[in-house]
Amino acid sequence: MKIIVVGTGFVGLPHAAVCSEYGHEVIAYDIDEKRIEAYRSGEREAIERYVNEPGLVSAMSKTSGRYLSFTTNLAEVIEGVDVVFMCLNTPPQRDGSTDLSYVTTAAHTLGELLAKRQEKSRVVIVNKSTVPIGTARLMESILNEHGVENFGVASNPEFLAQGSAIEGSRHPDRVVVGADNAEDFQLLRRVYSQFVNHVRIAYVETTPETAEAIKYMANSLLLTYISYWNGVGARLAETFPNILMEDLKVGVTADSRISKWGSYVSNGAGGSCFGKDIQSLIYQFKRAGQPTDLLQAVYGINEYQKQYIFDRAVHEAGFSFNNKTITILGLAFKKRTNDMRDSAALKAVESLLGRGVAHIRAYDPLAMDVAQSHWFHPDKNSLFERISYHESPAEALAGSDAVYISTDWEEFRGLSRTIMQTVPAPYLVMDARRMIPDYEALVAKGYDYLPVGGTLMKGEAV
Ligand code: UDX
Repeated sequence: MKIIVVGTGFVGLPHAAVCSEYGHEVIAYDIDEKRIEAYRSGEREAIERYVNEPGLVSAMSKTSGRYLSFTTNLAEVIEGVDVVFMCLNTPPQRDGSTDLSYVTTAAHTLGELLAKRQEKSRVVIVNKSTVPIGTARLMESILNEHGVENFGVASNPEFLAQGSAIEGSRHPDRVVVGADNAEDFQLLRRVYSQFVNHVRIAYVETTPETAEAIKYMANSLLLTYISYWNGVGARLAETFPNILMEDLKVGVTADSRISKWGSYVSNGAGGSCFGKDIQSLIYQFKRAGQPTDLLQAVYGINEYQKQYIFDRAVHEAGFSFNNKTITILGLAFKKRTNDMRDSAALKAVESLLGRGVAHIRAYDPLAMDVAQSHWFHPDKNSLFERISYHESPAEALAGSDAVYISTDWEEFRGLSRTIMQTVPAPYLVMDARRMIPDYEALVAKGYDYLPVGGTLMKGEAV
């Protein structure tokens, strides 16, 4: 099959690489010439500057130049194409709705080119991005406007999590294909032949609207799980003495009907999908005149969770943030990524600055560059001037009054020793990821320990 992948970010590039592993001729297209040059170079560092996923570079190197190629010129490769995957950004707008401009612009470009094809064999345009219900129909009308012949539009949402995009593409839980036409289903069965009739992978053929809805429901349900654990599970263990978070988790999730995923309590879920998708779903329901109470509560609980521990620090630990120096460890929205989109650390910094802290000392093993460009402000009076960036946890801890652990990086598990060696008690440790299993050692030496999913452990007098 001849496949074009439009958009070579976190979804498009791994998808292109994995499709080419199955012997399809895959051409990955992007308007960004620098990206395409980097991908063509085959150099790890250059590729990972754009998409950093385990196994991606080796997957690309297996097929690059044979089944996998890269281009910035769609016109050159359009002839004879069977399937076009649209893997474009669908960022949120202020009112929660989805900005579809990248998708519609690409649809117009494609429409012009497909209309001029010499050979009019069947071509399917497939949406892989998360798009509002009805987007496949919208794309169909754009392609019709351009007079494209013999085409179909399908919806084939992507369920990949960051850090496991290659593994997730090779072994998905399910493949969902929404289309209108038997010929289009057939073409996509050929693309995904390794997954059709698989004993473990669900291959779902449905309408485009159902496929679009599956993605929104899956993501908002996952966020509901996380919010339930944060808003009910963690809260139980923070409110009533002698409730042990880990035991609560094991006991509740032992029921085979209850998901284990999502029970890891935290400072809320971040990333490029959950918040954006639930807001888009709320917006779509509101426009249709439907109530959105449950979804709004889930979104609200997740946002509140991103700074709730600071309220607890004031009320439970009697800590005052005014004029203090606070260390933040972890800026990325989860471990093994430098992505800070919707990260709890963003909310934390705003909240801390709003509470009058004098100085924030930040450290993250991967996200320092992203953080500096995010918080850099040309206006010298900016509050963000109060943030300094450090090379190690110890350097970031030095001279601070309290630490806030925001991301679940493995390296923070050994933090109690570093804390004891770097900052003297009395000192407050706010652990929003439950990263310090040996917190008792800290407490014994006079440090206050305040975890998500547990009551304050007051430092013992030494
Ligand atoms: C998510 C979905 O998992 C994926 O299916 C979808 O396609 C895109 O969004 P991703 O954003 O990469 O993927 O991250 P994920 O690993 O799901 O974590 C999201 C956030 O939830 C992170 O901030 C993570 O730390 C947090 N989380 C996750 C919890 O707080 N508790 C948990 O139990 C699980």
